[in-house]
Amino acid sequence: MPTWEPVNQRGLKMLKVENLEVRYGAITAVREVCLEVSVGEMVCLLGANGAGKTTTMLSIAGALKSTTGKITFNGRDITSFSPERVLREGIAMVPETREVFPDLTVRENLVLGGFIHRGDHRKNKAQMEEMLALFPVLRDRQDQQSGTLSGGEQQQLVIARAMMSQPRLLLLDEPSLGLAPTIVHHIYEFINKLRSTGLTILLVEQNANMALKHAERAYVLSLGRIARQGPAGEIATSSDLKALYLGS
Ligand SMILES: Nc1ncnc2c1ncn2[C@@H]1O[C@H](COP(=O)(O)OP(=O)(O)OP(=O)(O)O)[C@@H](O)[C@H]1O
Ligand SMILES: [Mg+2]
Repeated sequence: MPTWEPVNQRGLKMLKVENLEVRYGAITAVREVCLEVSVGEMVCLLGANGAGKTTTMLSIAGALKSTTGKITFNGRDITSFSPERVLREGIAMVPETREVFPDLTVRENLVLGGFIHRGDHRKNKAQMEEMLALFPVLRDRQDQQSGTLSGGEQQQLVIARAMMSQPRLLLLDEPSLGLAPTIVHHIYEFINKLRSTGLTILLVEQNANMALKHAERAYVLSLGRIARQGPAGEIATSSDLKALYLGS
């Protein structure tokens, strides 16, 4: 498994979001959002339905344009970058929609994830091998049509597909959504395996308990604003977490 970041870069700021505001027409979905992720960290962004988690993540990925704010990645201003350019900078996103190309095989889906390195067959082949080794079920089913996979297997596939671009930062939007608790546990094992390679992760979850068990730090979004932030352990025991989820 390649190490994505040299050990001596651990702790350096990788992602910085400053004063982000995003609107959908007349609706302001997030405002004054500031967050940071350091090299090697897993940070989670929590909040109730409609709090603005996906909006924030899509803005970082370049898929939504902000009205105000600045997004910096490894010191470079990426605020106005297209999704493809953001990907080339080293940020990959796994959207909450968990979409696979159902008629394509598992292997074909993975190949598509490596499109930014399409001129570099060796790089893509090596990364494919890494992913098939990390996700044994994908190896077993590599020639199977992706639409026939279970929900948990499809979640593994979309994570592995995002990893095919060899990102330095992985954005994960609700990886546990709609999955049974035992499967969720399994998915988090894979996330931890990815982390052990040095990958930096920003995780969006409604499943606060699960996310706080695994992440180092957390931000809680409430009605489009950051209402709390701190070490995961502190957020987990904060008495007002429920209230924040209810938007009060
Ligand atoms: N395409 C859109 N057009 C208009 N409003 C939108 C659109 N997408 C999201 N919104 C609104 O923006 C706000 C934030 O939505 P967002 O999807 O970011 O929340 P979320 O925290 O990801 O919620 P969930 O937990 O349900 O995924 C909500 O009020 C939502 O209704
Ligand atoms: Mg969402």
